[in-house]
Amino acid sequence: MALDRDAFKQVMGRWTTGVTIVTARAGDAIHGMTVSAFTEVSLEPPLVLVCADKSSNTHPLIAEGGVFAVNILARNQAALSDKFASKQDEHLRFEGVDWTMAETGSPILPDTVAALDCRVHAAHESGDHVIYLGEVLWTRCDPDKSVLLYSSGTYGDFKA
Ligand SMILES: Cc1cc2nc3c(=O)[nH]c(=O)nc-3n(C[C@H](O)[C@H](O)[C@H](O)COP(=O)(O)O)c2cc1C
Repeated sequence: MALDRDAFKQVMGRWTTGVTIVTARAGDAIHGMTVSAFTEVSLEPPLVLVCADKSSNTHPLIAEGGVFAVNILARNQAALSDKFASKQDEHLRFEGVDWTMAETGSPILPDTVAALDCRVHAAHESGDHVIYLGEVLWTRCDPDKSVLLYSSGTYGDFKA
């Protein structure tokens, strides 16, 4: 029985996630994109995963540099999510963003809920995406900020 792809997309769209911006560095080059496919994998050793579309610009940079950072967006950062997801002016994504550099060299974005600096532990090609497992080397968290949510193509947040 052939799978109805639109139905599959609709189902996965109903799954509610947080929103992150995954950043990467290889040499002098930096880039980043909005990613919702992020989850914790292991506590010992500390591992997380992100799924990157093979056709994205970010994927080859992670592959080349072997590092990435996950920036977990706050409820008021939907515009930043859109900026890092847009295919327009993608080389200008960091313009006007007061980012700092993690130890691995990956950009850390300001005013987020949390950030994790990671070294690639393993990469698994899976269909049109690559699953990057990252060993977490450093974290930062602002417990007073609440996360941006994404469901059915719409942003939201937890009611306080
Ligand atoms: C809320 C949201 C979540 C997204 N999640 C992912 C994801 O998990 N993995 C992915 O590869 N792209 C994801 N995207 C799409 C990328 O952000 C988008 O294709 C981006 O333009 C890729 O940038 P790049 O090609 O310059 O790296 C998401 C977009 C949005 C708006």
